[in-house]
Amino acid sequence: MPEQVLRVTERIEIPRPDDWHVHFRDGDVLRSVVPHTSRVFARAVVMPNLRPPVTTVAAAMAYRARIVQAVPPGVAFEPLMTLYLTPTTTPEEIAVAAAHPAIVGVKLYPAGATTNAQAGVADLDSVTGVLEAMQELRLPLLVHGESIDPACDPFDREAEFVQKTLGPLIERFPRLRVVLEHVTTAEGAAFVRDAPDTVAGTLTPQHLLYDRRALFEGGLRPHMYCLPVLKRAHHRDALLEAATASDGKFFAGTDSAPHEIGAKESSCGCAGIYNSPTALQLYAEAFDLAGALPALEAFVSRNGPAFYGRAVNVERVALERRPCSVPESYPLGGGVVAPLRAGASVMWSIVP
Ligand code: NCD
Ligand code: ZN
Repeated sequence: MPEQVLRVTERIEIPRPDDWHVHFRDGDVLRSVVPHTSRVFARAVVMPNLRPPVTTVAAAMAYRARIVQAVPPGVAFEPLMTLYLTPTTTPEEIAVAAAHPAIVGVKLYPAGATTNAQAGVADLDSVTGVLEAMQELRLPLLVHGESIDPACDPFDREAEFVQKTLGPLIERFPRLRVVLEHVTTAEGAAFVRDAPDTVAGTLTPQHLLYDRRALFEGGLRPHMYCLPVLKRAHHRDALLEAATASDGKFFAGTDSAPHEIGAKESSCGCAGIYNSPTALQLYAEAFDLAGALPALEAFVSRNGPAFYGRAVNVERVALERRPCSVPESYPLGGGVVAPLRAGASVMWSIVP
């Protein structure tokens, strides 16, 4: 057999990737986390779930300026901003947002579904005029897809949302551009796959690499807790299939969501996994383990820009199969955050 057939891929080079879903927070925490994203990713879609939430274009632009200030000198990084949809959002504000080149979408948090989602929308009928405006102006709706029915089991919330809320929404607004964020189930992945090209999905490193056993491995693991929560192994299989498919419907959205270590290691711990320091390497590991490295480029560098109508980045980044170690913690404002894989390693490294 020729030697080439036996050799595994040890190095890949791809256009600089983008992160289509990240949480930067604000203030000291913002300054701690932005460099981890901007070092690797050329652009990132920044979630608006601050306290108070980012509900206007003016607030989003002020927030964007604070992000730009936190980017290390000499690093090229473009924050793409989102508005937080509330029952009082107006179609007029949507028109201003749609005309603004730095605003890429409006985030739907079902009220109370996750961290800082209290100001979200309990009933989509209350925002019909806004959704009509978004459909007409082609401004994407970025969806946290979980049912907020208290009777719904946490592991079923995504499937129930897709069936009872997202399906009917897309029937009512067939031209609305929608991203189902951080898809975690076979049902969510199938919905995006079978929907028209106006519907796409993001996938996180943790949902491609872990299933819910990771929450209970040898004891309760608060740093593996995020929302939507990790699901059963067969869902992870479906997500890997979605990520590595050639239909272009899925792209990288890390959902990196830093919380101070004490807020995680608590009797009522916060939801959110901090993965941005090694997110690209973790995606590479997931694709490698799935035997699908050639599909990584489309997922992290091409499908997102295609959906959002932006150019693929010209700069390139190389990865090699060499372990990179992950520290136990990183500074986070005045405290620390434990990253995904803390104290362990990732199978892939970025070539410096
Ligand atoms: C996010 C956060 O902490 O802001 N948490 C999470 O578990 N993913 C919110 C979110 O995206 O759900
Ligand atoms: Zn998120």
